[in-house]
Amino acid sequence: MEKNMHQPRTTYLKDYKVPEFLIDTIDLEFELEEDITKVKSQMHFTKNSASDYTGSDLILQGEKLILKSITIDGEILDAARYQVDDDSLTIHSVPDQFILEIITWIKPQENTELSGLYKSSGNYCTQCEAEGFRRITYYLDRPDVMAIFTTKIIADAALYPVLLSNGNLAGSGRLDNGKHWAKWEDPFKKPSYLFALVAGNLEYIEDIFITKSGKSIDLRIFVEKGNREKCAHAMHAVKKAMRWDEEKYGREYDLNMYMIVAVSDFNMGAMENKGLNIFNTKYILAKPETATDDDFVHVEAVIAHEYFHNWTGNRITCRDWFQLSLKEGLTIFRDQNFTADTTSRTVERIRAVNDLRTTQFVEDAGPLSHPVQPDSYIEINNFYTSTIYNKGSEVIRMMQTLLGKKVFRTGMDIYFERYDGQAVTIEEFVKSMEEASKMDLTQFRLWYTQAGTPIVEITDSYDAKTHIYTLHVKQTCLPTPGQPDKYPLHIPVQLGLIDEQGNQILEKLLQITKEKQVYTFENITTRPIPSLLRHFSAPVKLKYDYSDADLALLFKHDTDPFNQWEAGQKFAISHILNLIKQRNNNQKLSVDLRFIEAFKHILLNTKHDKLFLATLITLPSERYLAEQMDVIDVEGIHHAREFLITQIAKNAKDILFKMYQHNHNIGHAYEFNMKEMGHRSLRNICLFYLSHLPDVHFRDLCVRQFKDAMTHNMTDTMAALHCLVNIDCHEREAALESFYTKWQHDALVVNKWLAIQAESKLPNTLQTIKKLMQHPAFDIKNPNKVYALIGGFAYRNPVNFHQAEGGGYALLADTVIKLDLLNPNVAARMVKPLTDWKRYDEHRQALMKAQLEHILAQKKISKDIYELVSKSLLLTKKEEVTER
Ligand code: TRP
Ligand code: ZN
Repeated sequence: MEKNMHQPRTTYLKDYKVPEFLIDTIDLEFELEEDITKVKSQMHFTKNSASDYTGSDLILQGEKLILKSITIDGEILDAARYQVDDDSLTIHSVPDQFILEIITWIKPQENTELSGLYKSSGNYCTQCEAEGFRRITYYLDRPDVMAIFTTKIIADAALYPVLLSNGNLAGSGRLDNGKHWAKWEDPFKKPSYLFALVAGNLEYIEDIFITKSGKSIDLRIFVEKGNREKCAHAMHAVKKAMRWDEEKYGREYDLNMYMIVAVSDFNMGAMENKGLNIFNTKYILAKPETATDDDFVHVEAVIAHEYFHNWTGNRITCRDWFQLSLKEGLTIFRDQNFTADTTSRTVERIRAVNDLRTTQFVEDAGPLSHPVQPDSYIEINNFYTSTIYNKGSEVIRMMQTLLGKKVFRTGMDIYFERYDGQAVTIEEFVKSMEEASKMDLTQFRLWYTQAGTPIVEITDSYDAKTHIYTLHVKQTCLPTPGQPDKYPLHIPVQLGLIDEQGNQILEKLLQITKEKQVYTFENITTRPIPSLLRHFSAPVKLKYDYSDADLALLFKHDTDPFNQWEAGQKFAISHILNLIKQRNNNQKLSVDLRFIEAFKHILLNTKHDKLFLATLITLPSERYLAEQMDVIDVEGIHHAREFLITQIAKNAKDILFKMYQHNHNIGHAYEFNMKEMGHRSLRNICLFYLSHLPDVHFRDLCVRQFKDAMTHNMTDTMAALHCLVNIDCHEREAALESFYTKWQHDALVVNKWLAIQAESKLPNTLQTIKKLMQHPAFDIKNPNKVYALIGGFAYRNPVNFHQAEGGGYALLADTVIKLDLLNPNVAARMVKPLTDWKRYDEHRQALMKAQLEHILAQKKISKDIYELVSKSLLLTKKEEVTER
């Protein structure tokens, strides 16, 4: 990267060409030694008849490799036949068909990028997506080159008793000198990004799954010593996901064995390598004492996600990385439906929409906005974004809404049937849906190529004489980098009409296709209130001028539970924005009693299940409130929201306290099920409100819950600690200290301890972060710790991160610079909060920009950081990015 730092190469979708050569088989042999790992790769190459390439140069990718030897058809190549540079190996005048053998040496123990083969807690593991395989050996490292892999691993038997790779075990044995070996064969063709290898001193738990056609599958979860007792939940989730994919999509597992390995150093959540998923420990290990309800849910979701990739990603893979959403958007869609089916449809939808609106909408409104199918990138690692994943999932969901569930499933069947074993594009997916539905999705395809969040503005009128109700719909989309002009999209808007008593008059799916459209409804006998975009039927910003009275009515009565929640959120937002205005006019803040009344009404309504009720009474996050403002008023948002929380607590103190007591189950053993989770989340949101009152009584309540729960229930422990950590009192310090003392040897729990402090709203938090960065519990080389401490601060603590003196920005920039030398992928994930500088006031803008410039001025920076920082400083407009 250093050599042409100011002009890293951009890759364009329009330049895609089929590979010039194909690889039919690859036989790998790894000798793992402490100082060096020897990799022998034998590959069968053939010229690709579909390519128009007439030359005879073979270009392979490779990075940070020590090349030892090359042979073609058994003959050693002399140096004149090939050329090596920093990222490739070119071999001249190769025949149309040949066997290439390459020996390279690598040093996994020095790999801090955690890409390719590396060591985590003394064990070897791999991460090859997207372009990590080239850090193991020279290869055609692109997803449309699919080969049959066999892998032989040789290692010290005492240090690395477990030797794993993709597919089925074909043999193993002992060697002299204390070594042993294992050979794995994967019968399915696959791209190199799905390759995996693990060697280590691991324990496992096992189980069996019988597929619907009666095949028995061995399931194994491997973990570091001492963690086996935390795997039961994960194993249960594997079986649940396997059954679900059979029932919902008719998809069965296809190997004899399904293995998961959990490692503590991992850049992302998990990886779907064929037959051998590698997971971040965060998404495997869970027991009641150490994991919260949210953790339990996430473990299930990530396990389901990686398992579902076996069909949507592995059996059918991506032609090139511009198609990333083909597997990721679709697989997120599948795991969201799995979670909806196994937990609560509405609560899961609310979670997904909150996530979309606080990450994807923000991304889409900023300098890094890109379409679900991008048209260029500098570093592909930068495109594992919320747009690719979450908006990609929304696009699939809209197709399901437009086609109906049954026809959508037919489309999925066509897709699986027709493209199994191939590397395809998003177009093949859309074509399958068109064929199933006979619908023309030409306009719909724009969702894939046009960036930006559409704005749907709706106005209405009612004629009491003619009983006609009219809706005027207008869609627009703001320009995004490289896309100044936007076209109208095909938008499904699920509509309900509610009368003033709260009864539903009708429900209908509107299909918006033009910039402006008018809908009329006859025989509407009273003025209706529209319930728009039900279940969040499209990823758009909806604008309709609801009165507070309408919102209060929908909050109480909307028959679409998602929109019922949404009405409460809108009501709260309107109130909080008002409070911010009062604050900026130096007025005394005054609470709207109608809001309090609606809030109490919901609280006393016994018909809702408790999990949903807890969600209904949770105020919009500071991040989502920020999304509502042209210039983000960080302090205004924080203070207005805190004021409202305190007012709610004051005005509903008795009900909240009663509910807290009624849902308390001290002494009960923790159980992970929806009913118990509902109790816990309702009780804990009540405690959260009450903890905002000055009464010591409520502080004691937090302390008591903290102490009672600490031995057996992390959900309640964390909920109490979360309250205490925002109160400046000695109980806070005592709780943090006893928590650390108890859990200092459990890395995942220590990360919670780091995160909860990083997210504290108390004014001295920046100092605390600096101190914690020096604490033995922190390690800048471990991504989970960076995400907990630095991520917690920069992403989830806006008041402190954006403090006016700029100390938060400086801390983040310095950390990003350090991280970039170790692990660019993690550095790039951490720099993003600075890239949205345009959304803040001029003073903050200047401070943020100065830090971005400081990062860019470093002598050595990665492509990852270069791309994000230069794009966010608008140094490179999208189209101007170095056409070379
Ligand atoms: N394919 C993985 C998933 O979404 C994503 C992933 C895991 C990844 N590790 C990575 C992507 C490292 C890039 C780099 O399930
Ligand atoms: Zn994925």
